[in-house]
Amino acid sequence: MSFEVVTIGNATLYRGDCRLILPTLERPAAIVTDPPYGQKLNTNVTGKSVTGRAPGAGRPYLIHDKRRTAKGLHSTGLARQFPQGIKGDDEPFDPALILAAADRVLLWGAHKFGDRLPRGRWLGWDKVPTGKVRDQGDGELAWCNVKPDAVMRIFRLLWDGVCVGPEARHEVTAGVQRVHPTQKPVALMAWCLQFVEAPDGSVICDPYMGAGSTGIAALAAGYDFVGIELEDQYFDDACLRIEQAQQQTQLFELAPQQQPEQAGLAI
Ligand SMILES: C[S@@+](CC[C@H](N)C(=O)[O-])C[C@H]1O[C@@H](n2cnc3c(N)ncnc32)[C@H](O)[C@@H]1O
Repeated sequence: MSFEVVTIGNATLYRGDCRLILPTLERPAAIVTDPPYGQKLNTNVTGKSVTGRAPGAGRPYLIHDKRRTAKGLHSTGLARQFPQGIKGDDEPFDPALILAAADRVLLWGAHKFGDRLPRGRWLGWDKVPTGKVRDQGDGELAWCNVKPDAVMRIFRLLWDGVCVGPEARHEVTAGVQRVHPTQKPVALMAWCLQFVEAPDGSVICDPYMGAGSTGIAALAAGYDFVGIELEDQYFDDACLRIEQAQQQTQLFELAPQQQPEQAGLAI
């Protein structure tokens, strides 16, 4: 088996098929992931939506394309599309591999394959708290095997194309773009990490990493991260986003050290 491994700070990222790679890795403390749900998502459409437009429309996936040059990110004026789609999304998802690979597991989209899961705790994401009627679902459910009898919790964060709540605005504005058709907000992944109760500093793994939102959240919370992604474009985007997030963290960590000089000035 051949695959590429990229190490970025406390993140170890594998470009390849998790069904082959995951069984070869050291057992992580927890798996937190968002697998392909088997919903045959059409990610490469420009048509109209069911709310007055054509079925299967992909308006939320039309994201203004930006290219990186030496001078930074620049809009190409084109809408970014995802002709590669999401691998594995054309067949039902079997969670058996994931459930066997870690003791603590949290799976997004689990309402699509709940019949293949044991008893567990359900978590919700209300992604249109405005109540707006739209083509995509109003939210998603996650299943977690830690504390299966605990109450359901709901995270409310607007995530509707370019309309997003304040906690996620930095992910779609100021030169940053959504780079994956089913990209999860980092704020959502940060919220859900608490429910797996992984020991401080342990390893969180996302074997269906996409553009790396779980990794950014896990690293920011002080965990090590292992990510696996099959699709080249999404893997490269995850590497870039995780690297940028770690650089920003380092900047924040450096900032307080500069303050004593200021404080020492005579008043
Ligand atoms: C629902 S998306 C995850 C999106 C991610 N949560 C994000 O925020 O970007 C599922 C991802 O799993 C990847 N994938 C599908 N089958 C895979 C496999 N066998 N091994 C690794 N990655 C796979 C797809 O390419 C896709 O990027």
